[in-house]
Amino acid sequence: MSQVYAAFKSIGAYAPKNVLTNQDLEKMVDTSNEWIIKRTGIKERRIADKDEVTSDMGAKASELAIKRAQIKKEEIDLILCATVTPDYFNMPSTACIIANKLGIANVQAFDISAACSGFVYALSIAKAFVESGMKKNVLVIGAEKFSSIVDYTDRTTCILFGDGAGAAIISATSDKEEAIIDINASANGAYWDYLITPSPGSVNPASKEAIEQGLQYVKMRGNETFKLAVKTLTQDVKDILEKNSIKANEIDHFIPHQANYRIIKAVGDALGMSEEQVVLTIHKYGNTSAASIPMAINELYESGGLKYKELMLLDTFGGGLTWASALIPFAGKANG
Ligand code: COA
Repeated sequence: MSQVYAAFKSIGAYAPKNVLTNQDLEKMVDTSNEWIIKRTGIKERRIADKDEVTSDMGAKASELAIKRAQIKKEEIDLILCATVTPDYFNMPSTACIIANKLGIANVQAFDISAACSGFVYALSIAKAFVESGMKKNVLVIGAEKFSSIVDYTDRTTCILFGDGAGAAIISATSDKEEAIIDINASANGAYWDYLITPSPGSVNPASKEAIEQGLQYVKMRGNETFKLAVKTLTQDVKDILEKNSIKANEIDHFIPHQANYRIIKAVGDALGMSEEQVVLTIHKYGNTSAASIPMAINELYESGGLKYKELMLLDTFGGGLTWASALIPFAGKANG
């Protein structure tokens, strides 16, 4: 029997229509457009409507990815949704709700909680399921309504995050040249309190007191996270490139997690990546957590800049702290 590999067949994304600009934020908190651009590179981010939830965005991104993979919905045998802003804490999973919205029944579906690293974590699970022969077509989603856990009176966090979703189809192939080369996902729980939503949860169940203290909002040790992110992201890429004997200049598209332009620049420079190699969406979407990387891949794809078998290098970090990198040739047809 020939060896089965996992191929990244297609990408799709969805960004809500409402734009929240730096100028809008100037009216809400003590900040300025200049400060936000200089410290983060963000100019605007998208915010979902009140009645537009994580699963709605995930389902829209999925519809596109399924169409572009040219498969039928019924052929999908696993749905993974990476999110830290699920429709419900903690049942049912957002993956189950998306499956229902897509009209797919009788399919294994579950959520992944790895914050901003969630999409790449989910890709590693999809790869393992496909390579083992257990599944043939996996729908991998990163979807976040981050605005639902952001405190819009806290200037240290509200400037950073936005809403959106991205999705990909990972399918079985016998063509080794199409195969996902490697995914390295890891974590260090020693930094568990760097990024945290303290409630609801078993430590702080939902209560009037918890809400009065604002424990339902994301809290971040920004400066410490920044320093750790630069170090971790750089080392992570060095490791995966060395392990697979690939040089930085052989990468067609470096697609880092879009958290802060200064982090991306520092990592890109340390790795010797040229400006043309680095994919940037931070200015228009901010940090969309698990949706960040698939949204960036989708931008590249829709601009016509992603061709068959071009090599993508993904690199991400997030709450946990978690991090992950991946070497993936694009196994779909170019757009246009
Ligand atoms: N507008 C104006 N001033 C602000 C501000 C804002 N939105 N947010 C913070 N400040 C102030 C601080 O209060 C501080 O003032 P002080 O010196 O009087 O105390 C000053 O700016 C510097 O704060 P600091 O936190 O050291 O800034 P920084 O250069 O680290 O930038 C972040 C702050 C949040 C942009 C940056 O730390 C960051 O991006 N961290 C990583 C975040 C991240 O990636 N999180 C997601 C992980 S997936």
